[in-house]
Amino acid sequence: MLEQKPIKEFQNRDTIDHFFILRKLEVKQKKDGSNYLVLEFGDKTGFISGNYWENYEDFYKEAFVGAIVKVRGSVEVFNDKLQLRIESAKIAEKEDRVSLSDLIPASLRDPEDMKKEFWNRIKKIENFWLKSLLKNIFTQERFEKFIFAPAGKSFHHNYIGGLLEHTLEIVKICDLMCDISEKSNFQPPINRDLLITGALLHDIGKIEELSYESVFDYTDKGRLLGHIVIAANWIYAACKQIPYFPEELQDLILHLVLSHQGKLENASPVEPKTLEAIILYYADELSAKTNAYRQIIQSGSEANSNWTKFHYLIQSSLFISKEPEFYNKENLEKNKNPKREKSDGTLFD
Ligand SMILES: [Fe+2]
Ligand SMILES: [Fe+2]
Repeated sequence: MLEQKPIKEFQNRDTIDHFFILRKLEVKQKKDGSNYLVLEFGDKTGFISGNYWENYEDFYKEAFVGAIVKVRGSVEVFNDKLQLRIESAKIAEKEDRVSLSDLIPASLRDPEDMKKEFWNRIKKIENFWLKSLLKNIFTQERFEKFIFAPAGKSFHHNYIGGLLEHTLEIVKICDLMCDISEKSNFQPPINRDLLITGALLHDIGKIEELSYESVFDYTDKGRLLGHIVIAANWIYAACKQIPYFPEELQDLILHLVLSHQGKLENASPVEPKTLEAIILYYADELSAKTNAYRQIIQSGSEANSNWTKFHYLIQSSLFISKEPEFYNKENLEKNKNPKREKSDGTLFD
């Protein structure tokens, strides 16, 4: 395992002799007309940029986005942001024994555990047609990509295994909604098999919308079609391969995938028009936003503030309590209001 200080913990004046993934490589011009390199580096915990001002020619000849590089230099502050002052950089060699998996962010969940959860949930689908459809879509080749892919480039579940993690979260939320409505004898009942199949398939197109061998980015296919259309094409083709697949069921499952982003301006070609579709939309939102907020909060607050930096995707800053310990049970016991000790035995004592 690679032992080096993670980017997230970098501080001003730290000395760097580190391996990173090269995320960005641009040539820019100085005022005197000569060139310099603008670079961005990443590890499992974050990103940091840096300018390579002098003697970068050898590095530039070999460098490419996605390469593992070794950088020497120091951390400095520029415009209130940490950046690297690069003394030297080179492409890592075999002898360095550093692999992409040492540097690419990955889900904290156990991959085997997630795979088991995924197949166990498919086993519970009773509808013959939907089970056949899932079997047809999740071929060995697609499943291998599915368990590896991130769910997004930068906003939520943007790490290896993120797509599977996100999908399992949505399946759980959808199952919970079905349980709740069954208990209240809600009519008409939610079609659980249909909803769960939609949840399992809703983002499957991301395995080809994104590239994730090293740096996460959109593929040409992803830019041209988007994950919703990619998935819809696969589902349509699979339904046609299954003899006598009911046409209305095909349209209902396609509707779930097509409408899962809720609004036309969110790249969904239709808005949710069924009970299952509206549940899937909000389940997707809940999973994605919770994960995104968690990551923004983990990035920490601004100096001397209880607030994170303004985040352009949520158009807001988030509050970080400086005293989360205050809310744990032991502290609450210590700070218990003395008046409550003379309680006469209410429901909450
Ligand atoms: Fe999506
Ligand atoms: Fe999603």
